[in-house]
Amino acid sequence: MQQKGLMYSIGTSVVLAIIAVVVAVVISNGQTTSKLNNADRSMTLWNIQPGLGTIMIEYGARMNNAWWAVDADNWDMAKYQVKEMTEIQEVGEVTRPSHADALKKFEKNDIDPMMQAVDAKDKDAFVAAYDKAITGCNQCHGDTKGKDGSSYRFVKIIRPTGNYPFSNVDWAGQ
Ligand code: HEC
Repeated sequence: MQQKGLMYSIGTSVVLAIIAVVVAVVISNGQTTSKLNNADRSMTLWNIQPGLGTIMIEYGARMNNAWWAVDADNWDMAKYQVKEMTEIQEVGEVTRPSHADALKKFEKNDIDPMMQAVDAKDKDAFVAAYDKAITGCNQCHGDTKGKDGSSYRFVKIIRPTGNYPFSNVDWAGQ
């Protein structure tokens, strides 16, 4: 009888220990998931993700490419470039959440109309949407303040001039 009691209490301890381990694993998995899903620049892995400076270089390049693609009547290329703009900006929304609202607003007000014009293969509508988007780019540069409190108004976007970008790409496509 006494031995049965001892076995019972060992059994209970083992069960409790297993439950404790399971709970600890679940909590720690939850914390890891949360760390992976929420930008925290005190962590090295987050800190080396592309910030707006890096993302904007691609944004600017694709905005330029979209212009030249439409100029060459390569609507598939234009669609691709505009779509990639939204994809790279989504990276910015994750890595720099404080800019997410402004980026989403820009996508809705300025990128979507460019895409609609591309889908309609309407050059005039595209140029109008493009000019409006340039105003939107510069508006955000003026509104966004860096750490020292000054804005990025010195980054002034204009319509592309000069030659086609990437001379090894045939902008007319196939
Ligand atoms: C959400 C606001 C916002 C919008 C919208 C925006 N930008 Fe920017 N842009 C920034 C900020 C902030 C910087 C400075 C980034 C930094 O260094 O941290 C910047 C910097 C840049 C740079 C300089 C990059 C470099 O480091 O050389 C270019 C080019 C640029 N933007 C292009 C554009 C273009 C083109 C558009 C429109 C299609 C646009 N941006 C729309 C906020 C914005």
